[in-house]
Amino acid sequence: MYAKIEQANLDALRVIHYPDPRLGEISTPLERVDDRVRALLNRMFELMFTGRGVGLAAPQVGINVRLFVASPTFEEDDRQVFINPEILSVEGKQEGEEGCLSVPGVNCRITRGNVVTVRALDAYGEPFEVTAEEMPARIYQHETDHLDGRLLIDRVGTVARFAHRRTLKQLEAEFAAS
Ligand code: NI
Repeated sequence: MYAKIEQANLDALRVIHYPDPRLGEISTPLERVDDRVRALLNRMFELMFTGRGVGLAAPQVGINVRLFVASPTFEEDDRQVFINPEILSVEGKQEGEEGCLSVPGVNCRITRGNVVTVRALDAYGEPFEVTAEEMPARIYQHETDHLDGRLLIDRVGTVARFAHRRTLKQLEAEFAAS
């Protein structure tokens, strides 16, 4: 919803952490792309690069709209924007380590599709389609998960989750105290 972006104080946005309930919500498509949305995207890139992440979804800054930013190469000029993304196809499998700025201190081995085709709108509201494999494909799937309220710890089994119980408990305590 555009209104959520309009009302947000962009400078005050921060990356929110597990178990903030906003990370578990299904986000809403964005109906309008304008300067205000581009200002949000810039702020998200700032938070992503500062946090040393390669992707950041809007729910991670507490705004439940369907968009994410990414920089698979972590280069300042490799700025990718996906608004209302849809994964059109997934082929093959890859397994690899993933982290998330919203679950600091937790790295999980996750199986994802190896090649994905995504359709989305760019920062000017123009539709595009991209096919990616390996690392970028992993990022697009991870970020799309955020838009559906799913975190990396929801993608792993109870054993892997158990291995991170201390960190998760600590994050839960920090959230309860905030
Ligand atoms: Ni994440």
